[in-house]
Amino acid sequence: MTNNSHNWIVLKFGGTSVSSLSNWQNITSILQDKLSEGYRVCLVHSALSGISNKLEEIIDLSSTDESETVLEEIKQQHRDLANDLGLDADELLSGEFEELEQLSRGVALLEEAGYHVQARIMALGELMSTKLGVAYVKSQGLDAEWKDARMLLKSIPVENASEKSLVLSAICDTSEDKELQQQLDEEGHDLILTQGFIASDNSNKTVVLGRGGSDVSASYFAAKLNAERLEIWTDVPGMFSCNPHAIPSARLLKHLSYAEAQEIATNGAKVLHPRCIMPARVHNIPIQIKWTQDPEQEGTTISSAVADDEALVKAISVRDNVILVSMETLGMWQQVGFLADAFDVFKQYGLSIDLVSTSDSNVTVSLDPGANTHFNEIRDEFVDDLNELCRVEIIESTSAVSLLGRHIRTILHQLGSAFEVFQEHEVYLVSQAANDLNFTFVVASDQADRLVQQLHEQVISKSSAQVSFGPTWQQINGSHSDGAPYKDTWWKGKRETLIQLAEKEGPAYVYDSDHITETVDNVKGLESLDQLFYAIKANDNEELLKIFYEKGLGFECVSIGEVEYVLDQFPDIDRERILFTPNFAPRSEYEQALQEGVHVTLDNIFALQEWTGLFEGQDIFLRIDPGHGHGHHKHVRTGGVNSKFGIPRFELEEVKSIVDEHNIRVKGLHAHIGSGIKDPESWKRTALVLAEVAQQFEDVEYLDVGGGLGVRENEMQSVLPLGEVEQGLSEFKKAFSQYKLWMEPGRYLVATAGVLLARVTQTKGKGKIRYVGVETGMNSLIRPALYGSHHSIVNLSRIDEPATQISNIVGPICESGDKLGIDRLLPESQEGDVVLIANTGAYGHVMSSTYNMRAPAREIVI
Ligand code: LLP
Repeated sequence: MTNNSHNWIVLKFGGTSVSSLSNWQNITSILQDKLSEGYRVCLVHSALSGISNKLEEIIDLSSTDESETVLEEIKQQHRDLANDLGLDADELLSGEFEELEQLSRGVALLEEAGYHVQARIMALGELMSTKLGVAYVKSQGLDAEWKDARMLLKSIPVENASEKSLVLSAICDTSEDKELQQQLDEEGHDLILTQGFIASDNSNKTVVLGRGGSDVSASYFAAKLNAERLEIWTDVPGMFSCNPHAIPSARLLKHLSYAEAQEIATNGAKVLHPRCIMPARVHNIPIQIKWTQDPEQEGTTISSAVADDEALVKAISVRDNVILVSMETLGMWQQVGFLADAFDVFKQYGLSIDLVSTSDSNVTVSLDPGANTHFNEIRDEFVDDLNELCRVEIIESTSAVSLLGRHIRTILHQLGSAFEVFQEHEVYLVSQAANDLNFTFVVASDQADRLVQQLHEQVISKSSAQVSFGPTWQQINGSHSDGAPYKDTWWKGKRETLIQLAEKEGPAYVYDSDHITETVDNVKGLESLDQLFYAIKANDNEELLKIFYEKGLGFECVSIGEVEYVLDQFPDIDRERILFTPNFAPRSEYEQALQEGVHVTLDNIFALQEWTGLFEGQDIFLRIDPGHGHGHHKHVRTGGVNSKFGIPRFELEEVKSIVDEHNIRVKGLHAHIGSGIKDPESWKRTALVLAEVAQQFEDVEYLDVGGGLGVRENEMQSVLPLGEVEQGLSEFKKAFSQYKLWMEPGRYLVATAGVLLARVTQTKGKGKIRYVGVETGMNSLIRPALYGSHHSIVNLSRIDEPATQISNIVGPICESGDKLGIDRLLPESQEGDVVLIANTGAYGHVMSSTYNMRAPAREIVI
């Protein structure tokens, strides 16, 4: 049946959505629904998932053999899907397969591919997938017409654009196309199926719209057909208030204005291509983001309408790997032309500036890495040139965290408590967008996740704007509690034992000895290390120490108390296996440590100047401050001028003259820059600094690169890749084989082996906020209150029940900071339920207290 009115809707499906039979079944039923509602449908889709990457490989490969292999993989993937769909790929795609063979042979022979050839190769991904798509929907009884998008979409020449961008990131006209509408009316099809990503230029040559361009194609088609709606079908439920993989309490954004959606897409949300909004916006066509797996979910709608009761801050975004260029000049104040001269240098090097912040003597700008991929290549020359005008500092490893919404300026006063977050973090740059749609802070990358978490909690989780926010990611993705992703964790299998223990013993830290043994073996896999020491401050439980002792680890102690404790436990221990690494300890502790014959580390020149006699003729270690710290929180970063640890490098010459004069041998150098580090290169960098310092001290045999290995706080976070840590260390070891390399982790060895158990005492509901009270709190586990640390929390008694309540889990201590977890999705908890707080084996029991005269949780090893 042909419907000659113009009620077109455009549906776009991405690569994942068109790569399986079950998704094609969903697509078919979605199409049937739309057609039966009286719509005419233009279906635009991408290449099968992974195919565009393989086509890019073909373009890059110059060896015929390798390119044949990739070619075969591409064909096979289409054959496999066709098989599932009951189709014959070799028959349907013979023309495309042949063209691809010819083009790839040509590229391999010539060892290069011009831009138009690249575009032709890339276009084949969509041409092949849509041929299968149309054959399948036809086989399901739908009357569909395949259209070559290159006949429908024409690119426009953009002034000053390079040939590369004209061909590989083409832009098309966004005006309505009455002729096309008429042609389709005459042809009388209610369902057309075409390719995303591809178009042609004025001379009918193939061009492509850039990776991710299928969204943009769909929006062009919506504009051409003056569609009633553009639906973007994806493998996620919609746009979220922040990255749901990092923050599971991220909320679905039910409605956005075009401007807000543009801002969120441009700031890094991957759901929608930033260029896809404009063509729809020009014609006021609403965009809906829908979830292919579950078409009933409401998704996100983008339109021009904004209701009065919508939230002003809709989302928080993070862009990583931002580079800051700080330009310091005293002569800038009232100086004409400084900015023009400085920016001219950026222009000469093709650097595009994102954010700018200025003061009398400093201008700091940020460079988005996506737009400045060549920065590292030109970095030195660029800095030299800019140094002619001012003093330049490049700050790397920073992230831009943005509050996105509208009229943000008008609500800054409401963000009061959110700004408390910054007491703990250095903010390099603050920028408020002139259009008032975003407010951005640039901070150190390792702080970004935590900052987003806190801002999200304060600005979005507490918002009552129901029109703007839908359910949380957790609520949509399975109704299980916070622990559901912990599939393989040891405590899942010991649930019954743990419940019984908590019911019998009350609040308890439980440690799993098998898990510790496994972890030690993993860390011992760092083969470049000559000796591993366990930092006993992380957990001093006797039974655990015994495991480490038997595994051959040494012990790192920071007080004479810790040294004596280890000696009590293991009286026969070789003293070489004990490090004494104190900070601001009294003289008497050094005396005692020297008598015990353990390795003594000095971290202050004071000890050498004032107690010279004590160290005369002795072997010592020096703790060096490499000048920078790293770690999960400001309180645990132990390098740089703001930290009280280590000897600054400028004092080393003086240290050298004292040790030489008094026959003191510096046997080892030590540095520990902080705790909870996830950057696998960190220890290699420390080793390099120590090796450089070692040039000054001829007796050095040992380099101790400290501890600090981070663990993930929840299942969504990344794990520290030990293999990469080892790679860095082994590179170091190759270059500096004369030194023995030591490491002294604490947290990594014990954190995941421990859980804190506590029973529910009372529950409370205060308006929208629910509290679940448990029998112990910050007196047992102070980390959430002290550092804002995240520990996953599950209701062990109800682990299989649907998690329906967002709750704050709190203890019985008389302080508002007595929270173990905020905003957690849990089943409805009852008095007596056993709650488990995960990853509490490190810095848990050791930091507990009897505050409020409440005994902290006891320790049990199983
Ligand atoms: N070596 C020295 C000299 C240290 O000061 C520390 C920890 C370590 C090694 C072990 O660091 P680890 O591998 O455990 O990160 N209470 C804080 C952690 C404080 C770390 C103190 N020094 C927390 O709960 O996160």
